[in-house]
Amino acid sequence: MSSRRPYDAILERVRTILSHDADLETRLQLTVEALHDSMDRYTWVGIYLLEGTELVLASWKGPRETQHQRIPIGRGICGLAARTRETVNVRDVSADSRYLMCFPSTRSEIVVPTLESEKVLGEIDVDSDQLAAFNHEDEAFLKVVADELAKVLESRNR
Ligand code: SME
Repeated sequence: MSSRRPYDAILERVRTILSHDADLETRLQLTVEALHDSMDRYTWVGIYLLEGTELVLASWKGPRETQHQRIPIGRGICGLAARTRETVNVRDVSADSRYLMCFPSTRSEIVVPTLESEKVLGEIDVDSDQLAAFNHEDEAFLKVVADELAKVLESRNR
């Protein structure tokens, strides 16, 4: 594994950030930074929030900005995860016709939806410059992060 810090330590950091008494924008930004900065394989990390029928990019950390600031449900890997409400782990983006290209260097991508019951609130999107960068541990880890995120987004909606 090429991570700099074990998953448990990062999770603890993310939980601390999300429970902090800061505004939502700040907490989301610190979360993507914590994920990006802790894991070598996580080249670009973003959080999209669902607004109507579109995913809107709320926070990101990576080498450069994406042109895909808004993605309709059903489009790309992000839109697929929102439509199916399931994690999509693409080991080789060049072999997946659904993939929407952001960065020429990206080789693999994982998108994990944040759910409140069956409702999609948003999602975590991680791009990697490594082929097949995400394993079952990453899937499980990002799912826990997405669940932590859901708690914050749910309370915002109340
Ligand atoms: N590749 C994504 C688009 C978002 S960028 O990766 C940041 C997709 O296929 O939906």
